[in-house]
Amino acid sequence: MAVAEAVPLENLQIPVIFVIGGPGSGKGTQCAKIVEKYNYTHLSTGDLLRDEVNSGSERGKRLEETMQRGELVSLDEVLQLLKEAIQRHLKTSKGFLVDGYPREVEQAIRFEKEVCKCSFLLYFDVSDGTMTKRLLQRGISSGRVDDNETTIKSRLQTFHSHSQPILDYFGDKVKKIPAEREPEEIFLEVCNYLSAHQSC
Ligand code: AP5
Ligand code: MG
Repeated sequence: MAVAEAVPLENLQIPVIFVIGGPGSGKGTQCAKIVEKYNYTHLSTGDLLRDEVNSGSERGKRLEETMQRGELVSLDEVLQLLKEAIQRHLKTSKGFLVDGYPREVEQAIRFEKEVCKCSFLLYFDVSDGTMTKRLLQRGISSGRVDDNETTIKSRLQTFHSHSQPILDYFGDKVKKIPAEREPEEIFLEVCNYLSAHQSC
């Protein structure tokens, strides 16, 4: 089946939730907990990109250079990977958690035009200092090319230069969650919100 065309997700009436926040804000950690409880499909654009890098393809080599600089990869490339992943899970998914997307307003516009409307956004709000500390700690063992001081600075800069327009664009659809607490405490707030919006 061709994957470049719009995916008819509207017909399935399942939630499609964008999960956003700075580098190390806890997107992946909270998504894992949501998956455990709600059985949604977790699609992290960072993970999809790293899978492509690990495949050793020419495209992967280009992507890795961009990620190592802490910059955004091209919209077309990331959206294509996302569409392919959605397509793979379409028949069985109870809902999609789209982690790390959108990173700029244009990504949101293109997704909603070519795939479907998002139900709402979860935004994990954490200070730069805390995110840096978490990532440096993780960097000791993660093996990620971007978990180093220089790239973390650049990732934070990239995040700050694009995030506010996304929040403005989606307005009331954004659920901002203070995320400098214990993971379980944050998750409780996530659950309360998800339970109240299950029909989205
Ligand atoms: P991506 O892989 O998405 O990285 P990121 O956004 O920088 O965020 P992380 O995955 O590092 O952190 P996270 O928020 O998931 O936090 P986590 O739960 O892991 O993207 C990587 C790169 O790919 C980008 O820089 C870009 O180049 C490219 N890219 C990706 N998406 C793109 C897109 N849409 N468009 C263009 N380019 C794109 O937690 C981090 C650490 O903190 C862990 O060790 C965890 O255990 C710990 N932790 C989590 N929560 C807590 C807590 N509450 N208290 C204490 N520690 C905690
Ligand atoms: Mg992540």
